[in-house]
Amino acid sequence: MTLILGIESSCDETGAAVVADGRTIVSNVVASQVDIHRRYGGVFPEVASRQHVLSILPVVRQALDEAGLAWRDGGPEAGLQAGLQAGPEDGLEAVAVTYGPGLAGSLLVGLNAAKGLALGRGLPLVGINHIEAHIYANWLVDAPPPELPAVCLVVSGGHTELILMTGHGQYRRLGGTLDDAAGEAFDKVGRLLGLSYPGGPAIQEAARAGSPTAFKLPRAWLPGSHDFSFSGLKTAVLRIVQKYRPEAEGRPTKPRAVNSQTPPVMRVLPVANLAASFQAAVVDVLVEKTCQAAQDFEARGVLLAGGVAANELLRNEMTRRCPLPVRYPPPHLCTDNAAIIASAGYYRFVAGERAGWDLDIVPGLKLTAQT
Ligand code: KG4
Ligand code: ZN
Repeated sequence: MTLILGIESSCDETGAAVVADGRTIVSNVVASQVDIHRRYGGVFPEVASRQHVLSILPVVRQALDEAGLAWRDGGPEAGLQAGLQAGPEDGLEAVAVTYGPGLAGSLLVGLNAAKGLALGRGLPLVGINHIEAHIYANWLVDAPPPELPAVCLVVSGGHTELILMTGHGQYRRLGGTLDDAAGEAFDKVGRLLGLSYPGGPAIQEAARAGSPTAFKLPRAWLPGSHDFSFSGLKTAVLRIVQKYRPEAEGRPTKPRAVNSQTPPVMRVLPVANLAASFQAAVVDVLVEKTCQAAQDFEARGVLLAGGVAANELLRNEMTRRCPLPVRYPPPHLCTDNAAIIASAGYYRFVAGERAGWDLDIVPGLKLTAQT
């Protein structure tokens, strides 16, 4: 059995996890900052990195404790000695860490913690692309491993990527968003509708009481490409919101005459109908273009990944409309966590990959065959 410690800090979740043989979660600890960032309506990078600094060691310690693996204290020298003596035989074989893409300050915290731990314990370090890790959530479920080649739709707050995966570590990027990421569009529209952050789960909830056909919203099909665009859809929602609330972000309020006797018209924003229509438009495009790509590239299945893959309509519609097998992880493995880092780390570790101590963060890292 090969145990890998995974560490994740690319955005606003501090995570550490121990995974066996790339597929079995032994421990998976996530310290979410979502309550802290809610007051800003989005992730505040400086606050995020400071919070990672506070959380990283307790989170790693808890993940090791829950896995029954010891944490060795005693300062750098004792740590180095103990680590060199006792590295692999206590079970851990490597430390895998996200080095990109993500927020620079946040990535630095996890990467440096991972380097310290690996050096102190005499373990190898494996650098992981966060987008690749999201895909590996599909290997962390109790089912036969997904069949390859697969078309992977990675949709989160920071990414919308369509990727052809032909083998472990073998990727071809087919397309991605030209503007907002799908999750970012959910978060921005959630804010426009006055819903709480993050917008994705809030829109899904609000949409339950609404009609997906109440508003005719645009879909950017971008024919002939595997790219996506969500900014036009977001602007269309903004225009509708402004009809109800002229002061909504994006348009200055027209000053009313000082002596005007007519009170402003206050109409109730149809939040549920707008949420349902917006969600349906996003899902429609994601499903159609992913299925098309899967057929174009003769994939054996479709894999969903990333925070937006927790969306019930996306899961259901992809399964209903795509003629190929569709797999998606449970919601808690769709959003950021370190088990997915450890899983991706396992497959890179057994392929012989090792990072040097000079491994640096790459905030704009892309997923390519060379990753
Ligand atoms: O993967 P993730 O935790 O972080 C990034 O790597 O960005 O994804 C977070 C994103 C947020 O934009 C959030 O609104 C979205 O995933 N999200 C959802 C749902 N749950 C989370 N979007 C739509 N429906 C959901 N149920
Ligand atoms: Zn993510």
